[in-house]
Amino acid sequence: MIQPNFVSLIVNFIFLSCLTLNLVLSEPQTHLVSQGCTPSKLQTSVNFSIIEDSVNATFRDIREQIITQNKYFAKAQQGYGENPAVSTLFQCRNYLSVHDCVSCFDVAAVKIRNCPAAGGRVVYDGCFLSL
Ligand SMILES: *[C@@H]1O[C@H](CO)[C@@H](O)[C@H](O)[C@H]1NC(C)=O
Ligand SMILES: *[C@@H]1O[C@H](CO)[C@@H](O)[C@H](O)[C@H]1NC(C)=O
Repeated sequence: MIQPNFVSLIVNFIFLSCLTLNLVLSEPQTHLVSQGCTPSKLQTSVNFSIIEDSVNATFRDIREQIITQNKYFAKAQQGYGENPAVSTLFQCRNYLSVHDCVSCFDVAAVKIRNCPAAGGRVVYDGCFLSL
């Protein structure tokens, strides 16, 4: 005969396991592993508002590729007039869900803006972004 306490222990255990499992599964893995900025060069001739436009456009493009095409690896490039082209490369681990992949991208996209317009790279447990 199973005692009520034992049953409730099992129920609790199953409940906690599900909780933990869920936490693990919905983890975008945004622990920062490394980060670096490209050394600034030729920046005097660059119009920053145009560069920022291009950066934003490549970020929108990549986000779109992740969401609509389920891509784990995406590239985007933009350039206006005489300004240097901006190109962005993104990759997330293929075991992440699309939702976690986008979350990791969003964190990386904010972080990489700490670099000057010349760009840089950020590496997380779950994803990698270079600009
Ligand atoms: C940069 O480009 C923007 C948008 O085209 C323009 O309004 C602005 O005057 C430009 N700035 C410089 C310093 O050329
Ligand atoms: C680019 O995106 C950033 C962050 O979302 C925003 O603050 C900024 O105004 C945008 N710049 C342009 C030129 O759209």
